[in-house]
Amino acid sequence: MDDISITHKPDEASGTASLANTRKVYVKTYGCQMNVYDSQRMTDSLAAEGYSPTDTAEDADLVLINTCHIREKASEKLYSALGRLRKMKDARAKEGRELTVGVAGCVAQAEGDEITRRAPVVDLVVGPQTYHRLPQALARVRQGERVVETEYAIEDKFEHLPAPRKEQTRSRGVTAFLTVQEGCDKFCTFCVVPYTRGSEVSRPVAQILKEAEKLADAGVRELTLLGQNVNAWHGQGADGREWGLGELLYRLADIPGIARLRYVTSHPRDMDDTLIHAHRDLPMLMPYLHLPVQAGSDRILKAMNRKHTAADYVRLIDRIREARSDIALSGDFIVGFPGETDEDFEATLQIVRDVTYAAAYSFKYSPRPGTPGADMDDHVPEAVKDERLQRLQALLSEQQYAFQRSLIGKTMDVLIEKAGREPGQMVGRSPWLQPVIIDVHGGEIGDIINVRIISTGTNSLVGVREMETTSDGTI
Ligand code: SAH
Ligand code: SF4
Ligand code: F3S
Repeated sequence: MDDISITHKPDEASGTASLANTRKVYVKTYGCQMNVYDSQRMTDSLAAEGYSPTDTAEDADLVLINTCHIREKASEKLYSALGRLRKMKDARAKEGRELTVGVAGCVAQAEGDEITRRAPVVDLVVGPQTYHRLPQALARVRQGERVVETEYAIEDKFEHLPAPRKEQTRSRGVTAFLTVQEGCDKFCTFCVVPYTRGSEVSRPVAQILKEAEKLADAGVRELTLLGQNVNAWHGQGADGREWGLGELLYRLADIPGIARLRYVTSHPRDMDDTLIHAHRDLPMLMPYLHLPVQAGSDRILKAMNRKHTAADYVRLIDRIREARSDIALSGDFIVGFPGETDEDFEATLQIVRDVTYAAAYSFKYSPRPGTPGADMDDHVPEAVKDERLQRLQALLSEQQYAFQRSLIGKTMDVLIEKAGREPGQMVGRSPWLQPVIIDVHGGEIGDIINVRIISTGTNSLVGVREMETTSDGTI
């Protein structure tokens, strides 16, 4: 949270800052895309309360920190940010100007009251299931109360949060997130998510379609469906049958204006046949799949409670590649889970070689309070974790680089997202989510154009426009 600085600039507007319709909120987001989505929904619900969004803490009357609890380092960021905010609040008090500080997200859910005990600067703690109660909670804060709202509410928060507003969505661009599922019942032994987000809940089909149509109307061309276990989504379809994520994707593909679909994050155990067939049948379902395996040793996978073997995973990848030959994979890996031997770690390197990834996230195991992993024996020394992580990352970078290079000379559809730095340059996304810098004859934001790749960076591609009709009919 480097952008919350401790210096306080006197603000000309500070005299009017407490007027209801001139209040400003700064939301700082850590963690996964679901937090990004939630932050947006919170901002929308606060707009109805007279708060307009701002990009700096200094400018804000209310600072909300949307936190992540997944690894120790992620949680630590909260307390260093709160230290800086305390100084800011003290400086403001001298000028008679208020600052309200709220903590949301997964640390809020996991630590609740402890946050207010440890950090007196905090006025409000609100867990991910209670964001729709934010306006009431703030009203209580204004009455002088310190509020902690971390119950799992029985009502559906999405039902009560405002849907994305058209004008705001447009300014957010041509891609959008849409949360379809939340929570997790898998209880991997290293993971806090089932405790911070609660058990699996799927949003109903009608609610999802309504939001997707609204986004399409506002000019969104690419939708990314979100969920902690997005492919565990299920619901009753318009045909009265029980749908899984595959059926939902077929239905979303019919919405006019939507040209690309993605979903994240999936669990290997929930990749059912219909979902695999959707990859075969829907060209607009992008050929890029994030499917974490975490480790390559069956012994470790069992201890992690992943409920599949390395061979199950490799077989599944084979089936997905049969359905869609140009699909590229990304994954998550953990090194140094308790009990991981050199041999177990070698099995992780082996599964990476067997599968071949286009991108990946890899982490040192971080013991999380309250999870079974934290209480296991044989914790791996930090130095060993470091060394394993380096070796794994070297292999993964090699694969990522090879994937990038394999695209040179190829043509592909690119969705234009914004203007580039140089005049005439545009920046878009490849089907595999890489940023593509298009050097000449870019096109308009929101267009999907055919681009030939001429060179690559570590994560990005550079291309030129091919002057022929693309698969979606734009030129
Ligand atoms: N729902 C997703 C992952 C959510 S968390 C899934 O099941 O795959 C994102 C990633 O953080 C995980 O895939 C895992 O690789 C990593 N992670 C989670 N808990 C961790 C921990 N205690 N230590 C290190 N990495 C962890
Ligand atoms: Fe965590 Fe496992 Fe659930 Fe993913 S599936 S959120 S890693 S418990
Ligand atoms: Fe972090 Fe919570 Fe997402 S712990 S990864 S913000 S679900």
